[in-house]
Amino acid sequence: MKDKLIKEFRNRFHKEPEHFFFCPGRVNLIGEHIDYNGGRVMPCAISLGTYLLVSKNMDKKLRFECLNFPETAVLQLQTSYSKTGKEWFNYPLGVVNELLNEGHGISGLDMLFYGDLPVAAGLSSSASIEVLTAFALNELFALDISRKNIVILAKKVENEFIGVSCGIMDQFAVAMGKREKAILLNCDTLEYEYLPFETGNYMLVIINSNKQRSLSESKYNERFTECGAALKLLKQELDVQHLCDIDPASFELNRHFVNDPVLEKRALHVVSENTRVKDAAVALQLGDLELFGKLMYLSHQSLKDLYEVSGHELDTIVDFCKAYKGCIGARMTGAGFGGCAIALVEKQRLDDFSATLSVFYKERIGYLPEIFGSAISDGVSELKL
Ligand code: GLA
Repeated sequence: MKDKLIKEFRNRFHKEPEHFFFCPGRVNLIGEHIDYNGGRVMPCAISLGTYLLVSKNMDKKLRFECLNFPETAVLQLQTSYSKTGKEWFNYPLGVVNELLNEGHGISGLDMLFYGDLPVAAGLSSSASIEVLTAFALNELFALDISRKNIVILAKKVENEFIGVSCGIMDQFAVAMGKREKAILLNCDTLEYEYLPFETGNYMLVIINSNKQRSLSESKYNERFTECGAALKLLKQELDVQHLCDIDPASFELNRHFVNDPVLEKRALHVVSENTRVKDAAVALQLGDLELFGKLMYLSHQSLKDLYEVSGHELDTIVDFCKAYKGCIGARMTGAGFGGCAIALVEKQRLDDFSATLSVFYKERIGYLPEIFGSAISDGVSELKL
């Protein structure tokens, strides 16, 4: 793969690449849609991700090319940029724009990207390319930005340049991931710890529903707004900053302040999911994978019924998992509205699991899912050329 990329770089730019970087994608094990509510989440970086070959140039041009998409961009270096259309290069361009806004100096660049993450599948291809670009430019121009500040910058790009009100989980996970560890991240304080993710006889399986996430950005922003509205109503009585500052008992006592059934459901998901993350962290520390799996199923149920971000395809996958003997837990992962599910499946039954699920899914949905195992990996890094 590296050789092919280098060859492409030479063909496209007629020069040698100077640096090679990789940033993973992520799955979230549990703690969905609570990062923007000040909650705790538990993502981990995966082995699929985005690669970048890059060289500086002297002609003050930013050249963006990607093996996955035909669209390219050549832009004169200027003091700021704005989003143009929906093309992929808006993500790295947003990072360049933010670095310039913060007063960092950069020169012209020739960049070739390649991703092996399925796009729009909820595995954070956008956070991956954002953090990758910020990390690479930080190294190339010795900008001295810490990893944590790279995370914050990449989130700002997504919020302000791209226009999605996402939380910080994805950018954090792809920057800070650690091999064989889950990250327990407090999204309010950004305090975090690594938890052992030891799956023993089981393995983490990713199931791409192959349902493209249609309308996901507007629906996502709608959930964000709904949570803000529920919080405002609860604040009439409670002295809290985020929905996740409310524990289940005090939510029970005060839920009548949210006098809107939809907002009440959203808030109930958030409050209960935050508790599930705490329980899941204990389960991992005790090595109780079965309990962890049960919490995954409960999380999915809540995302389906209360938060309403699942869908027929993801529910079909999770229903299958529940009935399959060698699977102890499954749930949708990421924003939802299509995209991927994750499952804990007995290692020796993986082939059977994949074959049976594929038939089951095709019969009900009409096309096949994509099923693969993934290692839990380190965050963004520079690779040897
Ligand atoms: C997307 C967002 C994250 C998070 C998840 C849902 O991946 O980018 O910030 O909100 O959805 O948990």
